[in-house]
Amino acid sequence: MALIAPSILSADFTRIGEAVALAEKAGADLIHIDVMDGHFVPNLTLGPQLVASVRKMTRLPLDVHLMVDEPRAFIPLFSEAGADWISFHLEASAHLHKDVSLVHELGRKAGLALNPATPIALLDEILPDLDFVLLMSVNPGWGGQRFIASSRKKIRSLGTRIRERGLGVLVEVDGGVNTGNFEDLVADGTDVLVVGSAIYTAPDPASVIRRMKEAVGARGGARRP
Ligand code: DX5
Ligand code: ZN
Repeated sequence: MALIAPSILSADFTRIGEAVALAEKAGADLIHIDVMDGHFVPNLTLGPQLVASVRKMTRLPLDVHLMVDEPRAFIPLFSEAGADWISFHLEASAHLHKDVSLVHELGRKAGLALNPATPIALLDEILPDLDFVLLMSVNPGWGGQRFIASSRKKIRSLGTRIRERGLGVLVEVDGGVNTGNFEDLVADGTDVLVVGSAIYTAPDPASVIRRMKEAVGARGGARRP
């Protein structure tokens, strides 16, 4: 059982509305929106205005992934724009507890994102305060990259730690997820699959979402957004 979060980063930006509408109709659980600042990652993408526009056209929760330096400065802007889930990078925040608390004070679900080589041991103290952990399975910055194989071990280790501690933290996996690997990732313990290019560069994006939902997401998962 897993949630499907299409990443609109790989959609045709002249038709974002259609990309969101087809995802909702096909049974997606969340809409994943990638925010890049040109500093934390060498690319620039979507801002709060886009989030506010998407907010108006879907009832799905918006899962905003901040790949930015100084996330504290941006969290209120994206909350105001209508983000429901907000994740920022552990590597970009010097005051994790303070920044996670800010997300919660704004009434949003809080997640920490980790780059592929960042050890999950760094989560030990903050884990009980999180709603979800976003494990990057590519280096952040672009859609369409190849899944980094060692991420599977990381997913399993994180799942084990969460279970051992009796926590309800969800594991979200982002980068290189496709029709060939998503079932293995769910077997490893992924709760939320972020899927960009495998959906939006497919000839029939809706059928990819439906197929994934049928395989891993349509059994009324125990933990819903
Ligand atoms: C990458 C982003 C991802 C990206 C995933 O930095 O965080 O969300 O859109 O795209 P795919 O699924 O194509 O790897
Ligand atoms: Zn992302």
